Amino acid sequence: MTTNVIGKPLPRVDGRAKVTGAARYAADFNQGGQAHAVIVGATVGLGRVTGIETGPVEKMPGVVAVITHRNAPRLPYAPHKSYIDPATGERLHVLQDDHVRFYGQPVAIVVADTLDQAERAAAALRISYAAERPLVDPADPKAQPVVPEAGKQPDARLPADTARGSADSALADAPVKVDEIYEIARENHNPMEPHATVAAWNGNRLTLWSKSQFVVNEQAEIAAVFGLPPENVQVICPFIGGAFGTSLRTWPHVTLAAIAARQVGRPVKLVLTRKQMFFMTGHRPRTLQRMALGATADGKLTSIVHEGTGETSRYEEFMEALTSVTSFLYSTPNVRTRYRLLPLDIGTPNHMRGPGEASGVFALECAVDELSYKLGIDPIDLRRRNEPAIDEGENKPFSSRSLMKCHDLAAERFGWSRRVPEPRSMRDGRLLVGMGVASASYPAFHAPANARARLLPDGTAEVEVAASDMGPGTYTSMTQIAAETLGLPVERVRFSLGRSDYPPAPSHGGSWTMASVGSAIRAACLAVQQEAAKRPQDGRPIEATASAQRDPDVAARFSMHSFGAVFAEVAVDPDVGTIRLRRAMGAYGIGRVVNPRLARSQCIGGMIGGMGMALMERTVLDPRDGRPVNAHMADYLLPVNLDIPQLEAHFVEETDPHVNALGVKGLGEIALVGMAPAIANAVFHATGKRVRSLPIRIEDVL
Ligand code: MOS
Repeated sequence: MTTNVIGKPLPRVDGRAKVTGAARYAADFNQGGQAHAVIVGATVGLGRVTGIETGPVEKMPGVVAVITHRNAPRLPYAPHKSYIDPATGERLHVLQDDHVRFYGQPVAIVVADTLDQAERAAAALRISYAAERPLVDPADPKAQPVVPEAGKQPDARLPADTARGSADSALADAPVKVDEIYEIARENHNPMEPHATVAAWNGNRLTLWSKSQFVVNEQAEIAAVFGLPPENVQVICPFIGGAFGTSLRTWPHVTLAAIAARQVGRPVKLVLTRKQMFFMTGHRPRTLQRMALGATADGKLTSIVHEGTGETSRYEEFMEALTSVTSFLYSTPNVRTRYRLLPLDIGTPNHMRGPGEASGVFALECAVDELSYKLGIDPIDLRRRNEPAIDEGENKPFSSRSLMKCHDLAAERFGWSRRVPEPRSMRDGRLLVGMGVASASYPAFHAPANARARLLPDGTAEVEVAASDMGPGTYTSMTQIAAETLGLPVERVRFSLGRSDYPPAPSHGGSWTMASVGSAIRAACLAVQQEAAKRPQDGRPIEATASAQRDPDVAARFSMHSFGAVFAEVAVDPDVGTIRLRRAMGAYGIGRVVNPRLARSQCIGGMIGGMGMALMERTVLDPRDGRPVNAHMADYLLPVNLDIPQLEAHFVEETDPHVNALGVKGLGEIALVGMAPAIANAVFHATGKRVRSLPIRIEDVL
């Protein structure tokens, strides 16, 4: 029997639980007798703690402990790094010394019977500092770029320098060129659900109900911090209220919750405030990029030079794939890329949806747009003239590439032919109207993953993986894959995730969950069927565990990426400079679509993220003390419903036999990638003003 549920637009299997409040998020896992912890963050950006007056606070109502570097346990902090942690540098050792490395760094934790008591006591804690002026502005001449220790990076996408041909001389000789600097502000993730951990010890066993996109890594990290065997730590996270990368790593608050629970001998609940989520849980690093394109008069690219710099902390080298797309998006004989890091007195940045690619492609796709105007060639036509036959960076064929198919589909539906090429030539009443386009790309990653499948005598099945669902609909899509493989209706399959004692899965990021976890589930379901065929049906459950990974030979032969095309239309008020996104459309080639309803929802969410990047999001640091001055939802601008217009996502038919047995390439990050350049290009088309610094502000177009 085949049910053919893959490809069906099923509603979320967990939808009812989410909208009725039955779904439990980390902070919902209250434990009997629990105390509440509040983190006190440094109010200087660099220096040392010289005094903490704990006495008066310890006597306040309900306070059970005030923990500082003076009385916190010395923790082993055994070496532990997964691919999610920077390969170079050492993670923050929390409450282990008197150093302040960035504004908001935890310097104390106050534990009380109630949250109110803990907040009140935390606010009353007097701390003195020997403060220095931090270096937080990348434009400060004292900020010196460093060459990342690329050799140590596990990720081959991130070499510091790459070159093919002679990009600089080809650029110098090019008849037509663009050579500009592009800047993107620091952004913070700001999911709805804040970071939260409930920690409970039972002897030397620790249970953490904790918001995490990577429960098995949180287990390993906390075990290393406390010097425990990993099996003594259990991490539970069945639901995530958005994350966008901020919960990939295990940040200091998880350790703090566990320290507090051990110190007071009770379970402890710790929830970060919105403000605290701007300090210590990662952010998209501010980037500065030089993008130079050389071309012939008929629009053939002869050279690309891409030099990018991203900020990092003083104690870790956070790297992202800022320059990686540049070598393969278009055909050209000469490419040079350079990637540098700028260590600052800030917390370590982290992956934020479309990490690296979103920032790098902004520079590339704006520059291609600028070139199209210089050449007088339609921007889509210009891209078509430079469509490569293979990945020229890796000298390999693409496993599949539907970039121009995406452009053609979206151009048709968007009505690109109505665009009048001349900037500032389209109007709607007194408003200036502009249309912009950009390409998008993101790698089709696939990591080894494991799954367990169980056939029960009542004809239902259970499937378990230590995966996560931060919103894309993992519960639903994985249920579909299991149901399809087992030949069962989806109602008879129960898929569970978010426990570190389930078969291990990779981090829920990098758009690889569908491919990686989906392939493992398929393998486990096939294995349990084989097991069932071998055994008499004796009324006992039948179980099988299996793992799956991409065939390394196939991986070596092909370049695997998703591609897309994004179109945007803006209206700009020429008198007051307000910019409104009127509509946007993306078309994506992502291999097989497991659930079109969820995929569409993913894309719209990503496009909204790209809209925020283009027009709103920017974390501003006070240069005197490194304080994020807009660390709250009133001043950190995000698109709200009133800002968000009609957004459409389409998928081109694409069969990729190479990526994995399911034929899925992954989706999520790519939807953010092309959006900001499409909007910036539309703003130029509307106004004739080329803005190369994001977010684009009113004053930029006046
Ligand atoms: Mo996504 S930045 O890989 O969570």
